[in-house]
Amino acid sequence: MGWGMRNRISQIIKPDTGRTVMLAVDHGYFLGPTSGLEEPRKTIESLAPYADSLMLTRGVLRTSVDPGVSVPIVLRVSGGNSIVGEDLSNETITVSIKDAIRLNVSAVALSIYVGSKYEHQTLKNLAALVSECEEYGIPVLAVTAVGKEMTRDARYLSLACRIAAELGAHMVKTYYCEDFEKVVKTCPVPVVIAGGKKIAEKDALQLAHNAIRDGAVGVDMGRNIFQSQDPVGMIKAVRSIVHKNATPKQVYATLKLGKSKR
Ligand code: 5RP
Repeated sequence: MGWGMRNRISQIIKPDTGRTVMLAVDHGYFLGPTSGLEEPRKTIESLAPYADSLMLTRGVLRTSVDPGVSVPIVLRVSGGNSIVGEDLSNETITVSIKDAIRLNVSAVALSIYVGSKYEHQTLKNLAALVSECEEYGIPVLAVTAVGKEMTRDARYLSLACRIAAELGAHMVKTYYCEDFEKVVKTCPVPVVIAGGKKIAEKDALQLAHNAIRDGAVGVDMGRNIFQSQDPVGMIKAVRSIVHKNATPKQVYATLKLGKSKR
C-alpha cells in the first residue's frame, strides 16, 4: 500500500486509538430529505466538530459544508436508486475519480448488494472503483447489506464483507449482528458498523460498545446520532465508547433526554 493510501486511511482511522467515529449524512441520495437531515448544513455544522470523518454525497459537500472545514471527507460515489424506485440494488458509480480528487476527499464509499437482483452490477462497480482509486491512492469503503431482502446474520454479513474485501475494498461498513466476531475475523480489512434505523439511545450506545468489543474499528453512524433528541450529546457519547472504551452506562448519563424518550 502506497504512502498516499496509508495517509488517507490514517485520516479516517485515527492512529492513536486505531478507531474511528464516522458521521454518515449521505442518506438523502436515496431517501430524500430524511428526518434530521432536512437542512444538511445545520445538522453537519453542529456535529462535524466531533466526527473523525463525514460520509456524504458531492451535492451536500458542495452546498452544505464550508471548504475551510478540517474534517476528512468520505464521499459516497454510488447511487441512481431511490426508496420508491423499482429496486434499491440498481446502483451505478455516480462520481468520477477526477471529481473526487478535485473535492479533496480522504476516501470514497460505494454500496454492494450481495444476493440481490443487481449483485453482479454492484460488485463490478466496486472492482472498477478500486482499480481506479488504486492509481491515485484513494481508499474505498464498501457498504454492505443495505435493503431488506437478506437476513442480516453473521453468515450473510461475512459473505458480503469478505467479497468486498476480496474485490479490493480497503474498509467495509456493515451491520452489527449476533456472532459479529466471526464477521470481523473473516474480513481481512477494517470493519465499521452502521447504526441502522433510530432506536433508543441506550440501545444505540450498547450497539456501538458491542461492535467495538467484537472487533469493529468504529462506527459510521447516522440516524442514531442526528435523529436523537440530543445529537451532540450522542456523538460525544459514541466517541467516548469508541476511542476511550467508556461503558454505555457511563456515557448514557451524560445525555440530555426528555423523560418520554428514555
Ligand atoms: C446507506 C448508508 C448510510 O450512511 C448508513 O445506513 C449509515 O447510516 P445509519 O447509521 O443511519 O444506518 O450508507 O446506504
